[in-house]
Amino acid sequence: MKLKNLKTIVAQAVIDYIPSGSILGIGTGTTVLKFIKILSNVKNLINGTVSSSKISTLYLKKYGMKVFDLNNINHLPLYIDGADAINNNMEMIKGGGGALTGEKILANIADKFICIIDQTKIVEILGTSFPLPVEVIPMAKSYLMREFIKLGGVPKYRKNIITDNGNIIIDIYNLKILDPIKMENVINSFPGVVTVGLFALRKADIILIGTNQGVKIIK
Ligand code: A5P
Repeated sequence: MKLKNLKTIVAQAVIDYIPSGSILGIGTGTTVLKFIKILSNVKNLINGTVSSSKISTLYLKKYGMKVFDLNNINHLPLYIDGADAINNNMEMIKGGGGALTGEKILANIADKFICIIDQTKIVEILGTSFPLPVEVIPMAKSYLMREFIKLGGVPKYRKNIITDNGNIIIDIYNLKILDPIKMENVINSFPGVVTVGLFALRKADIILIGTNQGVKIIK
């Protein structure tokens, strides 16, 4: 199956997990975009959405979905999003699209986080195949790059990207993340770090994987 079809089958399969009449948290990325399109055909199933990024908000509105401000919502039963890499403990790297801060906020608020991915995202060790994105305050860029080198990584400033929050992204290459929770805590502790794209303290509850053999479910 082509990659785009793997994303489509998983975006379709997650519809069955949506509680009717709820407000739904929406992630960012190409898999989520397919999900938004499918969801727009059954939009009466939910009361509306909250969005993790400006780009997803744009698509949600384009497809006629209601988007609430997160500050006006007091309960989020479910968050649905993709990932860039995920290990067999459901810990993830996210932020390839630069929307990691909004994504992490929604993932943490939601009662349940369902991750929708294609089979290419499964890895044994996080950090080796896909670089770890970190959203940082611009004035801390050089300081943080030095700290990331000390952690054993190769940091690269992602050019031409300003996040939804007006910050920049540093991608850390070649990090072998053997203890994701520890690494998340360490990077969180540096002043100037807004969000690290490591989702280990709050990982997925359910993963739906689009494979050549159909949709595989991991709980
Ligand atoms: C966006 O910032 C990311 O966290 C996405 O969830 C991730 O990049 C997955 O994207 P695709 O669905 O496009 O593979």
